[in-house]
Amino acid sequence: ENRPTIERDVVVIGAGPAGMMAAYTLKKAGKSVAVLEARPRVGGRTWNGKVQDASGKEHFIEIGGQWISPDQTRLIDLVEELGLTTFSRYREGQNVYVAPDGTRHTYSGDQLPVSDTTATEIDKLIDLLNTKVTEMDVTQPWAMPDAAQLDAISFRDWLKQHSDDQEAIDNVSIYIASGMLTKPAHTFSALQAILMAASAGSFSNLVDEDFILDKRVVGGMQSVSLKMAEYLGDDVYLSSPVRQLDWATTDPETADALNNVAADVRNGVVDDGAPAEVTAYSDTVIVQAKTAVLAVPPNLYHRIQYVPPLPREQMVAHQHISMGLVIKVHAVYETPFWRDKGLSGTGFGGGRMVQEVYDNTNYGPNLVDDHDAENPHGTLVSFISDVHAETMWALPAKERKQRILAELAAYLGDEALEPIAFFLSDMAAEEWTRGAYATSYDLGGLSRWGHLQNRPTGSIYYACSDIAAEGYQHVDGAIRQGELVAGRILERLQ
Ligand code: FDA
Repeated sequence: ENRPTIERDVVVIGAGPAGMMAAYTLKKAGKSVAVLEARPRVGGRTWNGKVQDASGKEHFIEIGGQWISPDQTRLIDLVEELGLTTFSRYREGQNVYVAPDGTRHTYSGDQLPVSDTTATEIDKLIDLLNTKVTEMDVTQPWAMPDAAQLDAISFRDWLKQHSDDQEAIDNVSIYIASGMLTKPAHTFSALQAILMAASAGSFSNLVDEDFILDKRVVGGMQSVSLKMAEYLGDDVYLSSPVRQLDWATTDPETADALNNVAADVRNGVVDDGAPAEVTAYSDTVIVQAKTAVLAVPPNLYHRIQYVPPLPREQMVAHQHISMGLVIKVHAVYETPFWRDKGLSGTGFGGGRMVQEVYDNTNYGPNLVDDHDAENPHGTLVSFISDVHAETMWALPAKERKQRILAELAAYLGDEALEPIAFFLSDMAAEEWTRGAYATSYDLGGLSRWGHLQNRPTGSIYYACSDIAAEGYQHVDGAIRQGELVAGRILERLQ
């Protein structure tokens, strides 16, 4: 046993945007912190990467989260505070829609070029979702009057209740199912779908790619966490997965003791009492602290052994939260050829394997990075969700690449078949994430257990984009959560 034991006011577990923001806020307020991170880097699901072309030249890509929308004001302010800048996604020219029959249509504005009846159905569904959003308090979706009812029906069946136009359903479904929760629409509830929309302000905001996919951070979104890591310095411990968290001094040996802990937590006794000590055991260091921030995605809570075990209701609830699955595709080209054809690079096709594609050329406006002013390359990004992602991963690499590029070509032309570099983000194969973009409840879970997700367990506080209200499943939500929890801890330690 040669791990050092250190003492801090707060131990933060996880150096994603949520954990970094919690630690950054606490340290600025004068508290001592230690951040324990499993990976050899900070940033979690935000990750600046590089992909090489055949000549060995490197092209910048963002393997994880990257876009910021105008309502994500906490993140926007933080980006500025950290001295970072943003740039807009390229969106000049015509968009492309690939219809269910495979025909390709160009259009501009936010109306898909579908038949009048389908357009009317799409508008009807959008209005309906917008109305439901106004009935939801995003900080407590489970308190909505018809929460249990909306949580008992899958989003797919709910859409079918309101429309029999499959093209309309597919194109409305994209924005929440494959495009956000990255799960098939039959696996999560209408309530969960409404939360997704409500967390972005309205369903119309999710549908509007110029809103939801507005800006990127120059140098990549991971820079937000890297900047906070600079401030935290030696307080961040990398390659330090937490294996065990002791969170109460109650004797864990007897069943009685465990039940008392659970009851005390439920009754708020533990939370109101003197700050209980926590001890976090990581691979490199042991941290004794007054409180802990658990800033890992909820699907990974169970990777830590809690002593004593978490209360019964949390052990149950955590089993009903899981990650979605999506492959983020980057294809880098000699030039942004679509721009020369008057295309924006934006394409939609509800029900297809690749349902969305965008220009993801780096800052400059088409530079690989801001140091390389001469660089002429163009980058496309697209996404392959849920069952389609499984199908793709099951293929040999060469065939997988061909199938994906053929989809890009269906939107933007045959030039898409010849990228100079190609990269697939595989967050599902990452030990400390296990999916993408984020977690959500299974059918019925949000109304039953959602109210527990932000409630501290004794001296353990939870923070993650996946349990956020505003900015749910987004970096902004992670930042809000980190700050919120830091505020609660500061109050408690006062
Ligand atoms: P996050 O998962 O980022 O961080 C948790 C950290 O905890 C990780 O570093 C992990 O290694 C660590 N950890 C886990 N278990 C541990 C243990 N036992 N001990 C120590 N450390 C442990 N968002 C957005 O706003 N715009 C976008 O465009 C996108 N796009 C997007 C694309 C892709 C491919 C992905 C995967 C995700 C996005 N997102 C996004 C989502 C966004 O990246 C995500 O919401 C935030 O990164 C979540 O931040 P958190 O800090 O909550 O968790």
